[in-house]
Amino acid sequence: MNLTELNRIATAMVASGKGILAADESSGTIKKRFDAIGVESTEANRRDYREMLFRSKEAMSQYISGVILFDETIWQDAKDGTPLIRLIEESGAIPGIKVDEGTQALPMCPGELVTVGLDKLAERLKKYYERGARFAKWRAVIDIGSGIPSMTAISVNAHALARYAALCQAAQIVPIVEPEVLMDGDHDIDRCLEVTQRVLNKTFQELRVQRVALEGMVLKPNMAVAGKKSAKQASVEEVAEKTVRMLKACVPAAVPGIAFLSGGQSDEEATAHLNAMHKLGPLPWGLTFSYGRALQAAPQKAWSGKAENVAAGQRAFSHRARMNGLAAKGEWTNSLEKKAA
Ligand code: 13P
Repeated sequence: MNLTELNRIATAMVASGKGILAADESSGTIKKRFDAIGVESTEANRRDYREMLFRSKEAMSQYISGVILFDETIWQDAKDGTPLIRLIEESGAIPGIKVDEGTQALPMCPGELVTVGLDKLAERLKKYYERGARFAKWRAVIDIGSGIPSMTAISVNAHALARYAALCQAAQIVPIVEPEVLMDGDHDIDRCLEVTQRVLNKTFQELRVQRVALEGMVLKPNMAVAGKKSAKQASVEEVAEKTVRMLKACVPAAVPGIAFLSGGQSDEEATAHLNAMHKLGPLPWGLTFSYGRALQAAPQKAWSGKAENVAAGQRAFSHRARMNGLAAKGEWTNSLEKKAA
């Protein structure tokens, strides 16, 4: 393992003013997104949609440091025969790959999930590296509800995350370690903070036990936010202050960067929260976005599966990428949103 090189990639993934495009929706998830815009989820449509994103010159060259791909996409070619992964490399962004194989019910723990995909992972990583992937992603899912999460769910998911991360580093691939605490419930921000803190602490404990080099990874956490169904929503300032406090308490400064998931926040909330955190700086690690929905909802709507809308889709994507790029430096303002709209 070449840790200097892993650290160089991890640092580039969280370069100032840039963040990660999570375009790694599984077949089931992209179908849901396409259903919402009335587009059939065929292989060709998925290719056309992602080709549109990766050919968005302004976004890709200025605001996107890396792209997380789904297995299908990393082997797909653009319409003119260029591998999609080459489009990403040519834009200057780093290609990455989602390597977990989704979740399964966790035995003895009703309502809880464990992420699977460790079997044969070493072999798969080797193929992905040869294809050009320089980082990977594994997402663990922790739900908050009555009596959950259990310590069992937190432990097994942290263990799997660390197993995955160690295998990645051995394959010269930077692991994005993503323990996502869902924002689906009716809990308040303090409950989210308390659970996320437990999850992060257990995750870093496992990473150490399994000898993962913190200098060669990126953390992808949720922010501390109230559940979507909570009557008590927190202000932008409260989310920023509590999230930064939580991360400072849990994430060693050896970690080069933290890149948030959006998790169901609205586009502008996700941007405003990241921006507000940078107002609290200086921070011990790079802090940026690794958004799926909060970067793609607008371009998906603008595109709606029509070739004549590709330019509009690219404009919508570039706009969100630019807003988040500014937020990643604390330079975003609400009026920039209004001006563009
Ligand atoms: P969202 O930003 O839509 O939560 O997706 C990010 C991601 O990669 C979740 O695994």
